[in-house]
Amino acid sequence: MTQIYQASCTAPVNIATLKYWGKRDTKLNLPTNSSISVTLSQDDLRTLTTASCSSSFEQDTLYLNGEPHPIDTPRTLACLADLRSLRAALESKDDKLPKLSTFKLRIVSENNFPTAAGLASSAAGFAALISAIAKLYELPQNSSELSMIARKGSGSACRSLFGGYVAWEMGELEDGSDSKAVEVAPVNHWPEMQALICVVCDVKKDVSSTSGMQLTVATSDLFQERIKNVVPKRFIEMKKSIVDKDFAKFAELTIKDSNSFHSCCLDSYPPIFYMNDTSKKIIKLVNLLNEAAGKIIAAYTFDAGPNAVIYYLKENENQVLGLFNKVFGHLEGWEKAESLKSKFEILEKFPI
Ligand code: DP6
Repeated sequence: MTQIYQASCTAPVNIATLKYWGKRDTKLNLPTNSSISVTLSQDDLRTLTTASCSSSFEQDTLYLNGEPHPIDTPRTLACLADLRSLRAALESKDDKLPKLSTFKLRIVSENNFPTAAGLASSAAGFAALISAIAKLYELPQNSSELSMIARKGSGSACRSLFGGYVAWEMGELEDGSDSKAVEVAPVNHWPEMQALICVVCDVKKDVSSTSGMQLTVATSDLFQERIKNVVPKRFIEMKKSIVDKDFAKFAELTIKDSNSFHSCCLDSYPPIFYMNDTSKKIIKLVNLLNEAAGKIIAAYTFDAGPNAVIYYLKENENQVLGLFNKVFGHLEGWEKAESLKSKFEILEKFPI
């Protein structure tokens, strides 16, 4: 009987509040700007990955939610090559270590949320894959170091290596060795923060993030303004608002950055639309809510699709959820998670 080595890890979904949009190097997946995200609670949306390897396995295999998937994309291959070479370096220093770097891998990955829900799953997916193999290989690298491998799988994945509030520092070096995720604050720093996830549309987006951002880089003038004069300042301010637990500031910056990102999409040629009529209704609703409260109590953000994430503090939960419930009618029965609470609900189905 040949021995099978195995390790499992989970990684949660993260939602950017300062958006990554644009690559300066597509091979190494280096961004044109730094970004910030909030990682959701593991109880809510996460990927669980088990990695095993054995001298008896004949090829690398990958199962995603029970379905076999080919391992042939340059991104996945780059991640596996990096992890294997780190393991090989350990093995070269210690003869007693089994030569796991030479064995084929079997990777089994499962999301605890419907992939069809239209929520970005690649971030949690690559983060869990990298964490599980790093654990299997007993790599000494810390989360920031591993985030640089996850980044090559999918940019936003590097931020899912950490919980809580995370920054992806764009870095300056050409080899990408300083383009990594770092913790801004752990989740228990701001336990009052809540996230409401509104699944507006569960149809797969028609312009992927990868191609959408490259179109923006190539064609949008507004984008140049965004990366040179807007995001660098916002990056510093948003980190400060998190450290200071200044919700009004955090929310204002989050809203403005979502608007700025979607404006750059519209300014691309041909234009890209990710938000739909329901998304716009949600924006109006949040504005109404803030106007009625006389201060900012809720922030919206939209990724490359029509689904919204609303951030608010627990003390304002009744007001925020009350209004959403009134307008959309069927928001009830959400479960309390310990830190960040999320709830995904089909509000309305609209074609994009
Ligand atoms: C709008 O990380 O999916 O969600 O690096 O090409 O895989 P690739 O792109 P991806 O882009 C995410 C874009 C975003 C903003 C964000 O998460 O920061």
